[in-house]
Amino acid sequence: MHLPRLKIGKHESRFPVIQAGMGVRIGNSGLAAAAIKHGAFGVIASVGLGDIEKSKTDYVAESNRVLVEEIDRVRELVGDEGPLGVNVMVALSNYAETVRAAVDAGVDFIISGAGLPTRLPEYVGDSDIGLIPVISGGRALEVVIKAWRRKYGRAPAAVIVEGPRCGGHLGFSLEELDRAETRSLAILFAEVAAVLNKYDCDIPMIAAGEVASRADLERVLAIGYSGVQIGTRFIVAEEAGIDEKSKQVFIDAKGSDVVVIKSPVGLPVRVLKTPLVERVLDGGREKFSCPYRCLRSCNPAKVPFCIAKALLATWRGDVENGLYMTGCNIESVKSIEPLGKFFESLEEGVSG
Ligand SMILES: Cc1cc2nc3c(=O)[nH]c(=O)nc-3n(C[C@H](O)[C@H](O)[C@H](O)COP(=O)(O)O)c2cc1C
Repeated sequence: MHLPRLKIGKHESRFPVIQAGMGVRIGNSGLAAAAIKHGAFGVIASVGLGDIEKSKTDYVAESNRVLVEEIDRVRELVGDEGPLGVNVMVALSNYAETVRAAVDAGVDFIISGAGLPTRLPEYVGDSDIGLIPVISGGRALEVVIKAWRRKYGRAPAAVIVEGPRCGGHLGFSLEELDRAETRSLAILFAEVAAVLNKYDCDIPMIAAGEVASRADLERVLAIGYSGVQIGTRFIVAEEAGIDEKSKQVFIDAKGSDVVVIKSPVGLPVRVLKTPLVERVLDGGREKFSCPYRCLRSCNPAKVPFCIAKALLATWRGDVENGLYMTGCNIESVKSIEPLGKFFESLEEGVSG
């Protein structure tokens, strides 16, 4: 199969691949620049970037300062061409400010999920930046399209359809996840395509979840998607921002280590069963104080652990206390190697 280019609005990439936004500090400027360099769309994850101490006094300003630094660094590494985007989760307490900072810094698109991004156009103003909602079903997309059309006269530049076998936070109930085959990428495609058709919206549909090889990519394109968003396969890329000890945890993990737990974000989250998760599954509660309210929906008095603290522990390589978000295809993660190797395998037409 010939791999098509991916065109979203006025931006185009050689391979039909978006490098997934992965917080905290996995999908940083290094990974995004490498993705762009090798012919994909690069994405910086905006969550948890700020210096922890400085964030205690001004969380919003510190988060924005580092986000802009990260965006500038990508431009230094690969020039102005892009396509470069920022992933901003709706669940963040500094959602609006983060979107505005990304727009001011001149990125090409915003990807937004973990909640319905119904107000996203409000925060980008007149900018013609590409807006890409992340959804897990036709109903959610319909809500977004209607709200954007009615209130802002705007349409999405593309849509990312996250399937039930995705990494990170999941837009499905636990019951739906138990019967993942009823929400497969093929079923979601038909559902989402019908909504796009209804609203006369001719935009690329991007599939996310469980794509780790050229063969997976071909399967998803054969369904009718225009491209894929890849996360898990890139977590241990040399350029990804986390400590090598944590990369090794992902490399050593088996499919049977993957579990779904309830996240302080308020959604199910797919993770590895590492010591922190075992303690939480046993009914434990971690000791923590909440230095800055990073999530709108989190109740620090009630949740069993602080997700910001846990994801920063992963970044530092603190295996005891880290939270290791992953997709189902963790066994595709085999060794630390430059991101370019994956794109070489696409180039060579390797179907394994
Ligand atoms: C470690 C990790 C961190 C993630 N962080 C984010 C994030 O910050 N924001 C977001 O919208 N999605 C996040 N995701 C979801 C990804 O953007 C992507 O949709 C998903 O990983 C695709 O599935 P795959 O992992 O099977 O390739 C994360 C996923 C992983 C595995």
